[in-house]
Amino acid sequence: MKKVLVTGGTGYIGSHTVVDLLENSYEVIIIDNLSRSKREVIEGIEKTTGKLPRFYSADLCDRTALEEVFQKEGTIDGIVHFAAYKYVDESVKEPLLYYRNNVEGLINLLELVKKYQVKNFVFSSSCSVYGNIETLPVSESTKLNPAESPYASTKVIGEMMLEDVKLEIPANFISLRYFNPVGAHTAGFIGENPSVVPNNLVPRITGTAIGKFEKLMIFGNQLPTRDGSCIRDYIHVMDVAKAHTAALKYLSELSSLHTHEIINIGSGKGVTVLELIAAFEKVTGIQLKKEFASPREGDVIAVYSDTTKSSKLLNWTVEKSIEEMMQTAWNWEEANNT
Ligand code: UFG
Repeated sequence: MKKVLVTGGTGYIGSHTVVDLLENSYEVIIIDNLSRSKREVIEGIEKTTGKLPRFYSADLCDRTALEEVFQKEGTIDGIVHFAAYKYVDESVKEPLLYYRNNVEGLINLLELVKKYQVKNFVFSSSCSVYGNIETLPVSESTKLNPAESPYASTKVIGEMMLEDVKLEIPANFISLRYFNPVGAHTAGFIGENPSVVPNNLVPRITGTAIGKFEKLMIFGNQLPTRDGSCIRDYIHVMDVAKAHTAALKYLSELSSLHTHEIINIGSGKGVTVLELIAAFEKVTGIQLKKEFASPREGDVIAVYSDTTKSSKLLNWTVEKSIEEMMQTAWNWEEANNT
């Protein structure tokens, strides 16, 4: 497998994955509509790797513009599909925005996978598909509970679509259910850099530390967890990136078609919001101004991953610690605010 199309390749996980793919000698093409990311990310990728991926500014919901890329590029060996909106609370407020962007974009892309006979497809799914599960860790065979947000529903629908289209399209599919990717590449040229105000926990932590936000709101302190705050499985974004390269390798070695594997991409460790904040404060020596608030609409209380399948199928495990996640996230914030 040589030529890989990365949708959403200027986004957070997308850009880190592009770096890992380039470093593993793939030819990478990026499609991104830059609605939530910045063009300068491409420069960051080039500075990190010394290689410049081809870039198309196109919206996946614009079927004609999308098809032009397929026409121009000729044979595409694999697709890694990131392009989607990802904010849980925004999806509760604007569900149709999420269904339109995340579902329609995937439909268009899959139609072109069929038409242009792309054989390998990796889909960005999310641990949010599990809903609120009482028995942790969650494994791929855990029965899904109802989605807690429209964002999560779009990921459930995406997986369901792949389950259906794999029967028809002669290709192989993987859905990677990411847990919570955080941190940044150590070189310092790419990181979490949305063109909208971020509302994920780590950019809010680093943004508060640097003075962009007055204080950090902690959503929930009386939940049924060990310290009352939510539990998540944080994973360094470069470890997540490497899981995609491993997924493409796995796909390229398959001898059959019409398969769809669902694989958790997590560390296997549950960390509370308060523990993550404490780790940041310890690593950086900065005390954050914080305030407790009600739980956020659409949030699950606790989730972390069973990692058996990812290590068995992909021969992949996480390498980076919580401290490295916090340090690289902070380095990135500092580098981008001077
Ligand atoms: N949180 C706060 N304060 C904040 C922001 C977040 O307390 O200012 C809490 C949330 O309530 C939650 C935890 O921090 O308990 C993590 O929240 P994030 O927004 O960072 O991430 P989510 O768990 O909501 O996960 C979502 C998607 C994932 C995706 C992740 C990162 O469900 O698929 O965002 O984009 F990977």
